[in-house]
Amino acid sequence: MSATNTEMIAVVAMAENRVIGDGKGLIWHLPDDLRRVKALTMSCPLIMGRKTWDSIGRPLPGRASIVLTRDPDWQVEGAIAAADLTAAITAAKDWIAATPEARNAIILFGGGQIYEMGMALCNRIELTIIAASPDGGPDAALFPALDEAAWDCVTEAEFTATDAVPGYRYDSLTRKSPVFV
Ligand SMILES: NC(=O)c1ccc[n+]([C@@H]2O[C@H](COP(=O)([O-])OP(=O)(O)OC[C@H]3O[C@@H](n4cnc5c(N)ncnc54)[C@H](OP(=O)(O)O)[C@@H]3O)[C@@H](O)[C@H]2O)c1
Repeated sequence: MSATNTEMIAVVAMAENRVIGDGKGLIWHLPDDLRRVKALTMSCPLIMGRKTWDSIGRPLPGRASIVLTRDPDWQVEGAIAAADLTAAITAAKDWIAATPEARNAIILFGGGQIYEMGMALCNRIELTIIAASPDGGPDAALFPALDEAAWDCVTEAEFTATDAVPGYRYDSLTRKSPVFV
């Protein structure tokens, strides 16, 4: 039986100009953010686009990798292919139901096309905002603009820039009118 009343949570790091990557990977390296993403996503199914899967290149341990692709022949060990968002959510719920240690939450893991598609079904966004406006190049991926009135936002931590990394902060957004999948 599938999980019910499941929350979908977008986890994303974006620059102030909404750029999230150059189409092939991330533009920044924030070790603390990577640790946070791991903690936020552990024991959850991840829904991601095929390009994001390619940029990671392997399944992330302790999580299911559900990959949206229009290619009916796409098959990679360690990934579950899905032809559309409905199929991806069904696969995610089935994985939650079949996995004793799973949390009842689905992570919308990007990239730009998948955030655009799934944002209306997200109840929370765990957002890292980087104080930079990089040019993501011709294939730049963006996080969609939000209707700010629809969300409550709490800033959980702020970090000033160092020689190694730009400044950034962690915002946790929750929908004022909850939605579940
Ligand atoms: N900063 C962050 O938090 C973050 C998070 C994730 C990703 N990223 C970055 O985002 C970039 C990738 O984003 P992107 O927008 O270029 O690509 P993407 O969203 O990762 O993947 C796009 C692919 O998903 C599949 N797809 C899209 N819509 C679909 C639909 N309706 N039905 C079935 N399949 C569908 C297609 O795969 P096929 O071509 O195989 O059909 C499409 O080419 C990379 O730079 C990555 O590093 C950043």
